[in-house]
Amino acid sequence: MSDIVNLRGGGSAFVLDLSGETPVIVHWGADLGEAIPAVLSAGPVAHSALDDPHAQHLVPQASSGWRGRPALEGHRPGGRAFSAALVTTAARAIAPDGHEITLADAAAGLSLVVEFHLGQEGMLRIRSTLTNVGTDDYALQSLSTTLPTGLGAAEILDLTGRWCREQHPQRQSLRQGTWLREYRHGRPGHDSSLFTAVGTAGFGNRTGSVWATHFGFSGNRVTAVEKTPTGPALIGNAELLGSGEIVLAAGESYETPWTYASFSSRGLDGVTDTFHRWLRSRAQHPSGVRPVVLNTWEAVYFDHNLDSLVELADRAELLGVERFVLDDGWFRHRRNDKAGLGDWYVDEDVWPQGLTPLIDAVRSRGMQFGLWVEPEMVNEDSDVIRAHPDWVSGAGLGRTPVEWRYQQVLDLVNPDAFAYIFDRLDALLTDNAISYLKWDQNRDLTEMGHDGAPSAHEQTLAAYRLIDALRRAHPEVEIESCSSGGARVDLGILERTDRVWASDCNDALERQTIQRWTEAILPPELVGTHVGPTTSHTTARTHSLSFRAITAMFGHFGIEWDVRTLDESDLFELGEAVALYKKHRALIHSGRAVHADLVDPAYLLQGSVAQDGSEAIFSFVSVATSFDEVPGRAGFPGLNPDTSYEVKVVFPSATSPYGSRGNVSWIPDGFTATGRFLAEVGLPMPVLNPEQGVLIHLVETAGA
Ligand code: DGJ
Repeated sequence: MSDIVNLRGGGSAFVLDLSGETPVIVHWGADLGEAIPAVLSAGPVAHSALDDPHAQHLVPQASSGWRGRPALEGHRPGGRAFSAALVTTAARAIAPDGHEITLADAAAGLSLVVEFHLGQEGMLRIRSTLTNVGTDDYALQSLSTTLPTGLGAAEILDLTGRWCREQHPQRQSLRQGTWLREYRHGRPGHDSSLFTAVGTAGFGNRTGSVWATHFGFSGNRVTAVEKTPTGPALIGNAELLGSGEIVLAAGESYETPWTYASFSSRGLDGVTDTFHRWLRSRAQHPSGVRPVVLNTWEAVYFDHNLDSLVELADRAELLGVERFVLDDGWFRHRRNDKAGLGDWYVDEDVWPQGLTPLIDAVRSRGMQFGLWVEPEMVNEDSDVIRAHPDWVSGAGLGRTPVEWRYQQVLDLVNPDAFAYIFDRLDALLTDNAISYLKWDQNRDLTEMGHDGAPSAHEQTLAAYRLIDALRRAHPEVEIESCSSGGARVDLGILERTDRVWASDCNDALERQTIQRWTEAILPPELVGTHVGPTTSHTTARTHSLSFRAITAMFGHFGIEWDVRTLDESDLFELGEAVALYKKHRALIHSGRAVHADLVDPAYLLQGSVAQDGSEAIFSFVSVATSFDEVPGRAGFPGLNPDTSYEVKVVFPSATSPYGSRGNVSWIPDGFTATGRFLAEVGLPMPVLNPEQGVLIHLVETAGA
């Protein structure tokens, strides 16, 4: 076996030195080429320190002198084997882009297999499997994946939020110490960060070096950026295990979720590009057109009635909608959110003939039918919990967890509860022509327990199993992951679902930030983006239709508004937006996402550029008032420098019979410029009121 593993892809490299007792990470960063002529895995010996020089181990352990957060924590009865000394026993290539290293500690009775891949797009993926090869139990506390950052690392960027304000960025200087984010929601949670990035000073959308990781798991987790006096800043990700949650009997194993990591020397857009390319390369990635959705939630809430929903379907058809999704409120006892969760039978009082009349009406109007479900949850006020009170997950000890939206968690680790919920969903999908499930999950999983023992880990895997089993039984059905908006957005859930609902907030101003940062990792075709009501139901802000439509354009477009109430002018403009989305969705859903680094925080310029650079669509929006009278010029990033583009403002339309909705005609008809000109000189941007925007389309000119 060669001593050096040099995985390369997408302009980055992951280099390991296997010559010592344990694998050492020499480099994660820019591609170094094929041959690595010299390797310096270790540095000098510090004063008053270990006698051995410091090296950055793939599996940091106290046994090799590491005094930071260890990769592995756990013990045998009585605290024995509390500190493992795992050493390399084997290493092999397992794929053109992958490698597997086996480490073992015979005395502690542990074996660890670390698997890593670096794909063509630059995505580094790592996971580990720990096996108890001893004779008694091993209580696992934590098994994390830790990656070092590189030269010049100076700042941390991650995201945080709350309900209706998910994925907002926060930045800070990198200092000595640990920036620790712990998520104990039993789901990622509204405050969870889709990524943890460390970068060079002032790194931006298009500038600077960035080392970023994502943890692909939907349960409890911990992320740490750790800077000790010993070496570079490390980014670690692990599942956050409860007390006694994972006890490995002899021969049993624990596998970590994947950690996904991307290095970029060209700012955050490089990280985004890697994630988008990798996600798009998956076999299960949705490949067809992403249909225009109409979701009934903000249109009718729980007020279900066949006539008004058919009226809504009429309007939806007129607008060009392609998928009609009936949200919460269709099943037994569900007249509000206090009752019914778990009783997955169509409510006979509201729907005496079942859902068929509505489904027929929707399908006869040329639309697919989608249905909302929340399979992992129950109301205590439900037939199912009256019959099976023991199906509520909790700590035992004779009490149930505190309620959240009047609901509790169905204990999916209980095989009977699992079988019940599978059978109900299977029957619904078998008996009705349903093309799409909006799979919701509306509470944090506090005190998750099964039979009195912690079960957040098992519950997460059981939810995965449930979705997987339904997908196998109904492969034609698409599934959306929703979790009170965006509280479960991660690559674990996206292994088995087709899109996420980024937020319950349809306020376009908030959505500009929520979507920008959700789409830093997820390509727009995986992110639901809806045009909400004129006055937002969650913030009471009022926005023009064009701003709402432009904001929804960069995602999987939909409408969540009572379109029965629209006047002629709004109907016309919304119809235009739907048509525009249909025209440009292939580009938006396959292009490279680009974000300009504008100096004025009042404006955002972002776009999608065709992979071959032949076409692009940009939005320029105002998100605040500016100091300046005019926005000035903005450079368009990501275009081919030598390609000549015709530039055209395509929305809001200046040709509407209802009057032009803004100053959109500042670019002369037929204006053409090269990508280099557009990037370096830029274009003067229009004067916009706050919370207004324009869509600009660029296409390679014939014969260029
Ligand atoms: C929360 C979701 O995020 C909303 O879109 C809606 O489906 C409600 N749940 C329904 O209860």
